[in-house]
Amino acid sequence: MKTRSAVLHAQPGQYELTEVDLDGPRQGELLVEMVAAGLCHTDDHVAVGDSPARLPVAGGHEGAGVVVGVGPDTPGWAEGDHVVLSFITVCGRCRMCSTGRQNLCDLGAKTFTGARPDDPTSFRMTYQGRPVVQTSGVSAFSEHTVVDARSVVKIDRDVPLDKAALVSCGVATGWGSVTNMSDARAGDVVIVMGVGGVGINSVQAAHAIGARAVIAVDPVEFKRETAVKLGATHATDTMKEATALAQSMTNGQGADATVVTVGVVNGDHIAEAVNSIRKAGTVVLTGTGGMRQSVGIPIHHTMFTVFQKRLQGALFGGCNPRWDIPNLLAQYAAGTLKLDELVTRTYTLEQVAQGFTDMKAGKNIRGVVLFD
Ligand SMILES: NC(=O)c1ccc[n+]([C@@H]2O[C@H](COP(=O)([O-])OP(=O)(O)OC[C@H]3O[C@@H](n4cnc5c(N)ncnc54)[C@H](O)[C@@H]3O)[C@@H](O)[C@H]2O)c1
Ligand SMILES: [Zn+2]
Ligand SMILES: [Zn+2]
Repeated sequence: MKTRSAVLHAQPGQYELTEVDLDGPRQGELLVEMVAAGLCHTDDHVAVGDSPARLPVAGGHEGAGVVVGVGPDTPGWAEGDHVVLSFITVCGRCRMCSTGRQNLCDLGAKTFTGARPDDPTSFRMTYQGRPVVQTSGVSAFSEHTVVDARSVVKIDRDVPLDKAALVSCGVATGWGSVTNMSDARAGDVVIVMGVGGVGINSVQAAHAIGARAVIAVDPVEFKRETAVKLGATHATDTMKEATALAQSMTNGQGADATVVTVGVVNGDHIAEAVNSIRKAGTVVLTGTGGMRQSVGIPIHHTMFTVFQKRLQGALFGGCNPRWDIPNLLAQYAAGTLKLDELVTRTYTLEQVAQGFTDMKAGKNIRGVVLFD
């Protein structure tokens, strides 16, 4: 069939509405009609060329939709099922999946190529006869997409899909960065560095676990105001102020945990975060930056050692998609996780590039593409 996707044809470039050819679902695959897709900064890293990619790429990895076709001999699925896309494929069998770390499933490296995970030469989308890479194997910015059934999580039909889309990446990533990847607990002082679609959920999580201070840091005033509405006790525009504040509350020690959710992370950001934490505290590094080269992190490494600090990388907030996606939606239903408040602006599929421009101008907590 034909479908329309927001496709990146050049790097650097912009996502452009493009008609592509889409294979029907094979065994183990599902045809999904998309309802909503979030504009996560990670897709912009590809557009600006910070993340290398084979082109063309049909973008988007945060979204939700309805199953409208099921491949042959694919048990457990039916047309009409509601699904949240998972940019992490969960095989359920590899060492990581079997030890409660589905976010690190071995299939992840294969879906990253944008081809079928079981056949790196086989692509589900083509444009003018050439293979189209599906971002994270899902291509959320598509009216229809075909995905591996291991790349979606089924959810209850009564959850609004435009809100469910948010837990597909940003919400789970930000939330889990605190609840899974830091040691923060009730009574602690937590800094969240960068309040976008990911960081706002670190703010919500730090509030939910009972942190006594949640210090949100963002240069954009609107982000700081939103953070305070969603659980931050303090908001500053620099890490210098945030660190001084955390030290003033901890007898000079520093924050128990700092989560780095800046849009384009560099080594200086990481060093600021390391300097903000107390002895044996944790920096959770969730934000990403240029993937083409490694950055230096200008820290005093001996002090890092003797203060026994921890710098913890975090993919998808250490969440298990099959458990955490429905669980976060249950928290939304219970009112303990806010999702409605995260959507600042909505866009049509044609407006994906505009959405990323707005994101970088600091206008959105999350921009969301709604499909008609
Ligand atoms: N590890 C993962 O699994 C994962 C998943 C999703 C996104 N990400 C990454 O997380 C990062 C955040 O994504 P997002 O969609 O929330 O981006 P975003 O652009 O919506 O938010 C980033 C925020 O950082 C703020 N910021 C910029 N410079 C800052 C500074 N020096 N100090 C404090 N704040 C600063 C911006 O004003 C903005 O509000 C991106 O790098 C993205 O690629 C990682
Ligand atoms: Zn994302
Ligand atoms: Zn696995």
